[in-house]
Amino acid sequence: RHSLRQRIYEINRIAARWFYRNLRELPIAENARRYLDKRGLSRKVQDSFGLGYAPDGWEGLLKHLKEKGFEVEDIFQAGLISERKGQSGHYDRFRSRIIFPILDAQGRVTAFGGRITGEGEPKYLNSPETPVFHKGRMLYGLNWAAKTIRAEDRVVIVEGYMDVIAAHQFGAFNTVASLGTAFTPEQGKLLMRFSKNISIAYDSDTAGAKATMRGLDILQSLGAKVRVGQLPEGMDPDDYLRRKGIDEFQRLVATEALSLIEYKLALAMKEYDIGSIEGRVAIVNFLVPDLARLKSAVEREEYIRLVAERLDLSPEAVQTEIRLHSRNSE
Ligand code: UTP
Ligand code: MN
Ligand code: MN
Ligand code: MN
Ligand code: MN
Repeated sequence: RHSLRQRIYEINRIAARWFYRNLRELPIAENARRYLDKRGLSRKVQDSFGLGYAPDGWEGLLKHLKEKGFEVEDIFQAGLISERKGQSGHYDRFRSRIIFPILDAQGRVTAFGGRITGEGEPKYLNSPETPVFHKGRMLYGLNWAAKTIRAEDRVVIVEGYMDVIAAHQFGAFNTVASLGTAFTPEQGKLLMRFSKNISIAYDSDTAGAKATMRGLDILQSLGAKVRVGQLPEGMDPDDYLRRKGIDEFQRLVATEALSLIEYKLALAMKEYDIGSIEGRVAIVNFLVPDLARLKSAVEREEYIRLVAERLDLSPEAVQTEIRLHSRNSE
């Protein structure tokens, strides 16, 4: 008998095939097929990411998996069914959703995400934590991206399923998603086994900006060379690629990506009042820990000059703040 983890992988693999066939074959999946076409996903990319469909109805998948000989308890452990409230029995977790199988670096199906095609909450429903799925340790797309990440020695992190799929459709094969905005140190460590040159390209909204800051700090402290691809306000990589194309995207996430200090400076200049002394002091103090951490004297001097110039201060004043900081934290 296989271990529970092995049984869950097998259940997930069979479920992924069932979802896939539903999307391709069911008449009621027409609406989902049209949705994906309208969003510009090529048939090829839909297939290579194994997209599927969970129909309405409460136990289509449960019945199918039981027919295949799997135990209800194992299907439950796989996160594919939920317990009925106040009575016995189970029902399918994913209903009326486009399904995104989540594969690990070895290509095993570990979990699923499901998107509604219309209005409603939540927009994406994911598998719960299971013995094989820990959201904070998973990077969506890594199995497809790993080879290119190693070859190019650079990786781009985006937020979502659609961003990864668009990136691959357009040819940015070194793209993975952190599945939302809660980037974790575990995801950072996993990524750094493939490359230490990491660009963050999160959605350009408040949540994305917060998550970018968090990701920067995590990756920096892990020793990565981290940069930010700053998208225009309100856009995400999927929007940007479809509007501007691959060359502009590559420029944004690679050649013109902002360094940690450039990004934080730009952010702080939006946050604080640069017209007042207090505002400019606050910005300098916000940047000082990162400036002090720079090991290369050349780099540090360069950034000190940049910060001073943008804030209309003398480089000496910024230098003094760094010295005070270093003394205080000794
Ligand atoms: P977004 O809201 O930015 O969605 O969430 P998206 O990826 O751009 O998707 P589209 O373009 O609207 O279809 C980013 C990611 O956060 C996670 C998903 O992984 C999603 O891709 N998320 C978001 C959830 O898990 N649940 C949600 O309800 C929303
Ligand atoms: Mn069946
Ligand atoms: Mn967003
Ligand atoms: Mn988005
Ligand atoms: Mn989007």
